[in-house]
Amino acid sequence: MSEGWMDVAAQADLPADDVIAVRAGNREIALYAVDGEVFATDNICTHGHARLCDGFLEGTEIECPLHQGRFDIRTGKALCSPLTEDVRSFPVRIVDNRVWVQVE
Ligand code: FES
Repeated sequence: MSEGWMDVAAQADLPADDVIAVRAGNREIALYAVDGEVFATDNICTHGHARLCDGFLEGTEIECPLHQGRFDIRTGKALCSPLTEDVRSFPVRIVDNRVWVQVE
C-alpha cells in the first residue's frame, strides 16, 4: 500500500474497547478498538506531554491521564478544557487482519 500507509499491528493484538500505543516510523500512534472499528490518533496529548494510551477510553472518547482533557478518537476533536487544540487523527484500514495507518 502506498501514499504513507504503514502496517502498525496485527488486528488480534488490539484489545476490545481499549487503547494501545504502536510505532509508525518516528511517530507514536494510539490505536483504539471500539465496537469492532479501529481508530488512530497521535499518542501525545496536545496540552502537555501525556500519552493518551495511558488515559481512560469511554466509548469514542479518550480522556487524557494528566488533566482529564477529552478527545473524540474518530476525528481527534478536542471536546473540553483545558484542551485548545485537536489531536491529529489518521485514516485506518484493515487488510488481511493487519492494521494499516496512513501517517503522511
Ligand atoms: Fe492532556 Fe493536560 S496533558 S489534558
